[in-house]
Amino acid sequence: MNHMSRLIIPDARGLADAVAAWRDGEIVAFPTETIYGLGADATNPTAVARIYEAKGRPTFNPLIIHAHDAAALAPHAVFTPLAEELAVKFWPGPLTMVLNRNTDSDTKRPVADIATAGLSTIAVRVPSHPVARSLLEAFGRPVAAPSANPSGMLTATTPKHVAQEMADTVPYVVVGGRSQHGLESTIIDLTGPAPRLLRHGAIPLEDLEAVIGKIELHTSSEEPTAPGQLTKHYAPKHALRLNATDPAPGEAYLSFGPQVGKLHAIQRNLSEGGDLTEAAANLFMYLHEFDARDDITGIAVAPIPQTGLGQAINDRLARGAVR
Ligand code: TXA
Ligand code: MG
Repeated sequence: MNHMSRLIIPDARGLADAVAAWRDGEIVAFPTETIYGLGADATNPTAVARIYEAKGRPTFNPLIIHAHDAAALAPHAVFTPLAEELAVKFWPGPLTMVLNRNTDSDTKRPVADIATAGLSTIAVRVPSHPVARSLLEAFGRPVAAPSANPSGMLTATTPKHVAQEMADTVPYVVVGGRSQHGLESTIIDLTGPAPRLLRHGAIPLEDLEAVIGKIELHTSSEEPTAPGQLTKHYAPKHALRLNATDPAPGEAYLSFGPQVGKLHAIQRNLSEGGDLTEAAANLFMYLHEFDARDDITGIAVAPIPQTGLGQAINDRLARGAVR
């Protein structure tokens, strides 16, 4: 397959082209500090529908609404005092907050219902990647953006991942290097009586709890349950085998921490120094690399500590192992 999406260099002209495409109701993939997103004008229902179509994503699964700053999101979401505190502390950055939709606002351009899957709540985020910020500021409207991968498949952390895997459905990819965090944003739901964590992500749970105290987990893969109970997500084409201290014949090996014994034939180390931040940034890179090979029978993955970002990494691996 030689045909790829068009890569856009984020100079003044490239940014203007991408913004013009958004204005025309087209979908454009773009870099964020977490992962690559597939964006469209959140106020244009037809444009948002194109996102669902391109990803093969069920329309009952709502999207995150991105903007250049919190003020730009205020017409669309009700910021409680706690939400304001978290916005000050973590934005711009990899935190997504689920808030009630703002129904009092007289904004002329509301977020399309299809973007929030018709819910009375809305997930909002202000990314920190300079290219994302330039695009959002120039566009001046909220942008709905899921991860730029086919639904259920591996997350894209380079422009090439997007351009290759979504070649047939995504016309443009704005280039912005390798994703800094390599994991999706952390999602916290602030619409109930107490904050609830909906997704482990680039901000470790402990960092959030240091600011607002204990957070109830509602990520549904919290207990190491049978894979069948987890929804398949973040899945490579090759089977994943977790907590493997060694690869079986034919398997590629994704290790973590200091090398024990000799290197295996097909091996990548998420972080030799045992650094979970580095491991997170490498995770999808290496899974994509292994997935491109047809000379392996599966991917064995070393145990990853269940602390800090390890929780987000293990969450991705557990769902990716679901067949
Ligand atoms: O880092 C990220 O968050 C990336 C970049 C592009 O910003 N986006 C991303 O989007 O990961 P996506 O669509 O792959 O994941 C968004 C998650 C989904 O699991 C969705 O169900 C959830 O957010 N979500 C969106 N709106 C919600 C809402 N109102 N209530 C609960 N969950 C919501
Ligand atoms: Mg996703």
